[in-house]
Amino acid sequence: MLNTVTSPLDPALFAEGPARDARFTVAERWSECANFPEGHPLRDIEFFHRQMNEEVDSLECSASNLQDFPQAEWELRLGLARQCADEARHAAMFRRIFESRGGCVGSYPVLNFQYRIVAHIRTLVGRLVVQNRSFEAGGLDAITHGIGEARQRGDEELASLFEAQRADEIVHVRFANEAIHATTQREPRSVLHIGAALAAASKAFGQVMGPEGTAGVHYPADVDGRREAGFTDSEVKLAVRLQEQPTNKATLEASRP
Ligand SMILES: [Fe+2]
Ligand SMILES: [Fe+2]
Repeated sequence: MLNTVTSPLDPALFAEGPARDARFTVAERWSECANFPEGHPLRDIEFFHRQMNEEVDSLECSASNLQDFPQAEWELRLGLARQCADEARHAAMFRRIFESRGGCVGSYPVLNFQYRIVAHIRTLVGRLVVQNRSFEAGGLDAITHGIGEARQRGDEELASLFEAQRADEIVHVRFANEAIHATTQREPRSVLHIGAALAAASKAFGQVMGPEGTAGVHYPADVDGRREAGFTDSEVKLAVRLQEQPTNKATLEASRP
């Protein structure tokens, strides 16, 4: 197990990381990040910083999709361009709350696993399944949980931030679901590309997170949000069932169309 945590990431599963300026320390694995325990005074602040960078990763994934697949349908390209704008706004929102609560950009290591996993996938349908339908749909569950938690603590500012983010993420999952459905109808072989992308992403995600990164991480599925985002009733039921198994596999399995 120790070997799994310390051995280098398998380069066959990852793209080169995106550029970051000198303020940032880029970590490769979850275990190299500042993982403050529940109740620690810096836990929220560190989360805002990490999430700010994750949003930039999402922006970079969507921008790469536009650049790498110029032949995609106009509607899909429009969705990706809108996603770029939304993710940039999310990064700014997290930066604002991070700095207003005393954070200084670059204080904590950041992970770019999302970009490195997604940009490595060669098909657009594979990227949409992994980024939008897996990572972002899983994010919906976490955000919805975060809204309730923030409100319970009386942190209205954070609850509102999450609500704004959730509304955008639903749109990102929905336009991807529509594009994935259209692609599988038009090209049945694309199901093979989807399977390959999910298998590689699942393996890569496991290397980054390690068993300690996903242990105990469990949010109930955002049933309403997932329905709004274009998942069918049976897919939502599957997500609910799989979310009861707190592993990264749960999110990725729930994404199989
Ligand atoms: Fe976002
Ligand atoms: Fe998003």
